[in-house]
Amino acid sequence: MLAALFKMMSDGRFHSGESLGRALGVSRAAVWKSLKRLEEDGYPIQRVRGKGYRVPPGAALLDLDEITNAFPGKLGAEVQWQLLGTVDSTNAELMKQLSMDHPRPMICIAEQQTAGRGRRGREWVSPYGQNIYLSLALPFSGGAQRLEGLSLLVGLVLVETLEVSGFKGCALKWPNDVLLDGRKLAGILIEIAGDLTSDCVAIIGVGVNVLMNDADAAIDQAWTSLFLSRQGGVLNRNLLIAEFVERLLQAAQVFRAEGFAPFAAAWEERDAWYGLPVSVRSGATSIDGVELGVDARGALRLRTGDGEVLLNGGEVSLRLQHDS
Ligand code: BTN
Repeated sequence: MLAALFKMMSDGRFHSGESLGRALGVSRAAVWKSLKRLEEDGYPIQRVRGKGYRVPPGAALLDLDEITNAFPGKLGAEVQWQLLGTVDSTNAELMKQLSMDHPRPMICIAEQQTAGRGRRGREWVSPYGQNIYLSLALPFSGGAQRLEGLSLLVGLVLVETLEVSGFKGCALKWPNDVLLDGRKLAGILIEIAGDLTSDCVAIIGVGVNVLMNDADAAIDQAWTSLFLSRQGGVLNRNLLIAEFVERLLQAAQVFRAEGFAPFAAAWEERDAWYGLPVSVRSGATSIDGVELGVDARGALRLRTGDGEVLLNGGEVSLRLQHDS
């Protein structure tokens, strides 16, 4: 019933509970109950007396046909896709399915994750039908060192995707958080399987808050969603996924041949904290300095009292100096 309800409402127009119930063969009360549950989960439903209910235009469920039809190029169609309703984590799922004998590009997307993984052991809040939870398995040869800068590249491609989809002002926080209005909009978690010195597979996990509207979501940092930005860009997750995957696969071809260097300038243009005083923490140590963007390998450049320091990825966290 939920899928049919979403389908009917994805036109962005008002529907009365009665007309929805009639079309779905259920009572008005049953429609009301389903919509109320969705709303309580943080789904943006607008209710207007005398008009009925409405969801943001394009706020449909995930649909592989719609994604495939929307590819701007051909690369996305060459990858093996799977769409799941509920899964623990799309990253974990691809990790399980991976064959290291014949690794090939695979994509897993889901409507909901019950154990979404964030960086540094955090949970990634993943409610049903609202956001993008996508993992892409990409085989690489030449060892994990060939992956230097990959997570920055993924962040950059995501910001570029959002820009062409009508969202202005998205920015990157090193190494790979995507911010909008200074709040976290999307996160990237790359896990590596296989032999770190030769053939390996990067599982690139991307979570984007698209429709999430739940002020009570259990998220321990300032966050936002594309819906909350009220910019009027594309909110249809199928179209966003198609655009993003095609761009990412294209960029990955360049990255395989040339590494991160060709992307460094574009990354820096979208660097949220360029020129600002920051603290970089790694475990118990912390270095203060002025953020100077990134080098050709994606390392963070920091001007400290002792000269310029380069910081590589890993378990470090970056804060503005005046934040606690
Ligand atoms: C972060 O903490 O910033 C990274 C969040 C990454 C979340 C995505 S959602 C799809 C994929 N599956 C997961 O379990 N995590 C990543």
